[in-house]
Amino acid sequence: MDRLPELYRQERERLLSYAESAPRAGEYASPVFGEGPMESVLMLIGEAPGAEESKSGHPFVGKAGKQLDALLAAADINREAVFVTNTIKYRPVNIKHGRSSNRTPSPEELRAGLPLLAAEIAAVRPCIIATLGNTPLKAMLLLSGNALLTVGEAHGSRMTLSLAAGQVQLFPLYHPASVIYNRSLAQTLEEDMKRLGQILKQQEG
Ligand code: URA
Repeated sequence: MDRLPELYRQERERLLSYAESAPRAGEYASPVFGEGPMESVLMLIGEAPGAEESKSGHPFVGKAGKQLDALLAAADINREAVFVTNTIKYRPVNIKHGRSSNRTPSPEELRAGLPLLAAEIAAVRPCIIATLGNTPLKAMLLLSGNALLTVGEAHGSRMTLSLAAGQVQLFPLYHPASVIYNRSLAQTLEEDMKRLGQILKQQEG
């Protein structure tokens, strides 16, 4: 049974009441939830929605999303077959002179996002979870009780994690937005994504 719509409804309510006392600014009234087929073999987890995602209500539709689409296409991975979500479901922001800019979720915000992330994994039961950047990698290592690693240490290789929902393969990747101005990291991300594509093909065949 698909429990996610009800869990997303509850999270929407939690965020609306949290907004009144939240210590950090965020677009709590326009959360973005996971999207994709419930039987997805691959789950992609980003950090948090950005401005475009918050506006549209869909994950990875802005600049980072376009880059993600290109990386997936180059690795022959069909985005339509992937469940895409984020570690926290609202856009965390800094507000200065009336303008909002993205910020990294605080450790408390990351921890508050873990129960829903665990529920998404339990509902979709992917074989492989690819994390995009440090925030979702940290979330997965916290959920599994593993020692924390950075994406620089862990990218491009598989680890088996034991979660309450069972075992899952973790494949850490750099975040598409973090490599924009670094050509060698961008190449590393392309190569890692292609490796992920090959692993998925092996699993299918
Ligand atoms: N960056 C993310 O981590 N997630 C999104 O949904 C968009 C940009």
